[in-house]
Amino acid sequence: MLNNRQNLDAKQGIMFLGLLFVSLISFYTGIGYAQVNTFLINCGSNSSTTDTDGRVWVGDPSGDNFTLSYPGTIEQTPTVEANSIYQTLYRSVRIFFTSAHYGFNVSPGSYCIRLHFYPFSFTNLNVNDSTFDVTANELKLVSNFNVPGEISYKNMRSKKVINSLVKEYFLYVSSNELQINFVPYSGSFAFVNAIEVIELLNNLFANYANKVGSKEKSSLSLTEHGVETMYRLNVGGPAVEPSEDRNMWRKWEPDDDFMFSVNAATAISNQSNISYSSINDTSIAPLLVYETARIMSDNGVVEKRFNVSWRFDVDPNFDYLVRLHFCELVYDKQNQRIFRIYINNKTAAEEYDVFVQATGMNKAYHEDYADTVPQQIDTLWLQLGPDSSVGASGIDAILNGVEIFKLSRNWNLAHASERISNSNEGLGKKKTRSKVLWAATGIGASVITISIACVFFLQHVRKRKWDGVKENPPGWHPLFLHETMASTTNAGASKIPLINNGLIASNRLGRIFTLAEIRAATSNFDESLVIGTGGFGKVYKGEIDDGVLVAIKRGNPQSQQGLAEFETEIEMLSKLRHRHLVSMIGYCDEQREMILVYEYMANGTLRSHLYDTAHPALTWKQRLDACIGAARGLHYLHTGAERCIIHRDVKTTNILLDGNFVAKMADFGLSRAGPSLDHTHVSTAVKGSFGYLDPEYFRRQHLTQKSDVYSFGVVLFEVVCARSVINPSLPKDQINLAEWALRWQRQRSLESIIDPRLGDYSLESLKKYGEIAEKCLADEGKNRPTMADVLWHLEYILHLHEAYRKSSDGDSFGSSEFGFQDMPFSLPFVREGDEERGS
Ligand SMILES: *[C@@H]1O[C@H](CO)[C@@H](O)[C@H](O)[C@H]1NC(C)=O
Ligand SMILES: *[C@@H]1O[C@H](CO)[C@@H](O)[C@H](O)[C@H]1NC(C)=O
Ligand SMILES: *[C@@H]1O[C@H](CO)[C@@H](O)[C@H](O)[C@H]1NC(C)=O
Repeated sequence: MLNNRQNLDAKQGIMFLGLLFVSLISFYTGIGYAQVNTFLINCGSNSSTTDTDGRVWVGDPSGDNFTLSYPGTIEQTPTVEANSIYQTLYRSVRIFFTSAHYGFNVSPGSYCIRLHFYPFSFTNLNVNDSTFDVTANELKLVSNFNVPGEISYKNMRSKKVINSLVKEYFLYVSSNELQINFVPYSGSFAFVNAIEVIELLNNLFANYANKVGSKEKSSLSLTEHGVETMYRLNVGGPAVEPSEDRNMWRKWEPDDDFMFSVNAATAISNQSNISYSSINDTSIAPLLVYETARIMSDNGVVEKRFNVSWRFDVDPNFDYLVRLHFCELVYDKQNQRIFRIYINNKTAAEEYDVFVQATGMNKAYHEDYADTVPQQIDTLWLQLGPDSSVGASGIDAILNGVEIFKLSRNWNLAHASERISNSNEGLGKKKTRSKVLWAATGIGASVITISIACVFFLQHVRKRKWDGVKENPPGWHPLFLHETMASTTNAGASKIPLINNGLIASNRLGRIFTLAEIRAATSNFDESLVIGTGGFGKVYKGEIDDGVLVAIKRGNPQSQQGLAEFETEIEMLSKLRHRHLVSMIGYCDEQREMILVYEYMANGTLRSHLYDTAHPALTWKQRLDACIGAARGLHYLHTGAERCIIHRDVKTTNILLDGNFVAKMADFGLSRAGPSLDHTHVSTAVKGSFGYLDPEYFRRQHLTQKSDVYSFGVVLFEVVCARSVINPSLPKDQINLAEWALRWQRQRSLESIIDPRLGDYSLESLKKYGEIAEKCLADEGKNRPTMADVLWHLEYILHLHEAYRKSSDGDSFGSSEFGFQDMPFSLPFVREGDEERGS
């Protein structure tokens, strides 16, 4: 029926009348799965090839039940860089200079189409010059399409250099032919490396979904519109490969890159006994997806009154289906985890209890929501958060997987303004318009996202690494990439030459340990040697080379996030040597392990000496010394290298004390090269720890050295008050240490709230200490001191205190006034050379 032009026009009319959300015809084919009509095409090749998953892809001169209308030209490459199961598949490509189509003989039904693009260097052609449309029967899949060489999602942490990309669609075919058309723009060309066509015998889409923010239902029927898969994520777990999803050969990516604040959620997993809540759901997602999840972080100090948020770049002016996969992995009764689901800041569900919805524990279940992303909005938010109607004990959320599907408008999945532009505006005209804009902006900004793209471009133009890389064209969103991760962190870090006599590292320095050595050092990771745990994994005390004590940090190999941080830390620590930075001795990456070996810090974290502790209280001098040491380490990070390095996670558990209580900064997993001179900030997703987070960074996501200064200010108050930075068990106005201490400090009565175990201290020194801490917490970064200032003040404070001690001991000075008043108060004296010896 859809092959009929008139029918299509009638449907378009209906769409324009705005009856988009009327539930209409549905179809449900039977249960039971078999791939009857499946085509795997190895484009540009005469022969079949088998991928590493054992699937056979046939060459694409016309075959038994498919035809190629026009051969175009074929190209081959001996090497495929993609670290991909499709290594052999991507060695050939078919290139079209005029329109061409593949025709598949199928029976009417629902189909999944995947197009694979691997842009290797073609003879006499620049891949960047390809511009084309692809349609499948009447459904427009992409328009003005170009495979970009480098992809940076606006909302994503890392930049990806792509080797190949895959796009995935679903559509209903009402006739006996599925035609996939490649239409190059004049003077340009189209290409494709592989095509998958898979018949869906078990329908993936129900008839309707709840429409967010209304009681209406949205039709999901494929007879109403085509669908493009935008994102498919295994939340809280590693990628699930196509071979692990044998129903549909889908790839499920990790979700780390899409999380707004990684600290808000904790990954959990449970492999036992998961089953589908409904027998109809077996092809919805593999059970592996349900075995991992994220729940709200609960480190005992943060009250769970926050949202766990993910955000996604999407194309404006489309309807989206957000499919949430849930499975309660921990609780065996209801009311343990109750939360709200928000999509695009609107409530999609209230008092959601997965246990109830899925009818039990370990039951795989999914929920569909539909929402419209209007013109001018290109971000889709998914948030899970507390429900105000629930008492503190039930506040928690869980999510196991998420998929985001774009629904076509008017049988068009390409950019929406293609739809708005009226139909007699042909390709030629679009091309002209696009040329004008290219000229106007000097880049290949897309016609449609021009305003967004321009802003984005202006913000990012200096960061672009390669000439000739175009801005992401409309419809470029790949479902998945076979990419090389190019984390901007690492790229930045590798450019840091050190100015003083620190070690200049061109490569990773440090010893490479074998896993056997690590096992020997830790008695095979004996639990009794664990000296710390965290989101990344565990830290063991170990012994290498006849008795040298070391700290061995073993990352959780499941974590994609962890891998990036592991590499950052190796990069950072390889280049940085300083008396007040914990030094890395080496690392081990054998067998996908992520193990770092550090100097052993006998006295553990500064936090462990402050509160909830059996250790004796630190004296005021010891506390000042520790703060000074940490400040020196931070000051070195900020200024010791040509480009400053921002620590990003300054807190008392990242300040370690050696056997002599010398403090050193640790944990560079979140570090990031700071802005170069022509930039004032680094724009980045918010990371860090609750209670220490710079509010300005949180608001604007602009990262500067001053974000570390803020966190350090919180540390100063924590050190003197000896309480946790967030303590939900306290009265409301005391929960947040920074706010509470600041209030007392502003009333000049910090001494009322200090640690009673502080011992003897000079009031004068405490007064100055409160002042500098207060300055660090200035709301705006520009009003905060530099670390050099902070350091100078702390040293001055220590002198004040020591003078006071001397006077009270020896009685040779009458007061705490020791002539320091005359010292210039804002002139930092920091001599790099004293401290920055390599170790
Ligand atoms: C593929 O087959 C066609 C027709 O049989 C032939 O002309 C062409 O040379 C072959 N190409 C390759 C690369 O073998
Ligand atoms: C969670 O997000 C929603 C929608 O953006 C917002 O209305 C709500 O206030 C947030 N809740 C918390 C606790 O931040
Ligand atoms: C939706 O919520 C997010 C996160 O809280 C926020 O950054 C964004 O500005 C909100 N969007 C709108 C339209 O309110």
